[in-house]
Amino acid sequence: MKGVVLAGGRGTRLYPLTRVTNKHLLPVYDRPMIYYPIQTLVDAGIREIIVVTGGQNSGDFLRLLSNGKNFGLNRIHYTYQEGEGGIADALRLAEPFVEGEKICVVLGDNIIENNIIDAKKHFETQERGAHLILKEVPDPERFGCPELSNCKILRIEEKPKSPKSRFAVTGIYFYDSTVFEKIGRTKPSWRHELEITDVNNFYLEEGSLSHDVLDGWWTDAGTFESLLHATNLAAKTGTNKIPGRGSPPRPVMDSE
Ligand code: G1P
Repeated sequence: MKGVVLAGGRGTRLYPLTRVTNKHLLPVYDRPMIYYPIQTLVDAGIREIIVVTGGQNSGDFLRLLSNGKNFGLNRIHYTYQEGEGGIADALRLAEPFVEGEKICVVLGDNIIENNIIDAKKHFETQERGAHLILKEVPDPERFGCPELSNCKILRIEEKPKSPKSRFAVTGIYFYDSTVFEKIGRTKPSWRHELEITDVNNFYLEEGSLSHDVLDGWWTDAGTFESLLHATNLAAKTGTNKIPGRGSPPRPVMDSE
């Protein structure tokens, strides 16, 4: 299985910070945001990874990540998104890299406490289709939100005014290679983007979508509130794997 990290976009919800840099290079506690999704893939045993980026600061990704040595990788692949076409448009650029294999896609601003090893195992036993990871959240209207019945997804709605469940579809997606044909069938949404939710609904219509619910915390970091939240969670959780940094992890204090 190959990995795709989507790290393009203008990050307008974080203006003025993102006027001078790419959102995914901003710090989340002690490292740049993009370190987290790369680590998520590496922790799941995925070693062939492509970063899809864009905009004026794309060269900084190469300076920061170079060949992936800090993550124990032999190399990292890069591609460049022209314009701002949304998540599905960015993913399309990974097609030549994927070469018909299954993929795990992680949005560059998605951060998790634990790992996705179980979800990956579940998808590996699935012959075809897609596998999503859900998480219960206090604000499902900010995300792709599933309507559920007997623990089955009936439909996914992007940024619903009246959410049909308390769950968000996290930005961690497992797909077979038919994802690219499905992206080709999507049309720009009200926010002028090709929505990954439309792609997921195509899988649903085909009867080949499954899901897990994530253990541990999950957050995005694309707004000021969620960036602060992500920073606090990362600081509190700590980690002993901080690529490129020498000092030991900070202990979590009982009083925190
Ligand atoms: C995107 C997806 C949404 C998903 C979310 C997870 O939202 O469109 O379905 O729930 O990522 O972070 P966006 O960050 O573009 O608002």
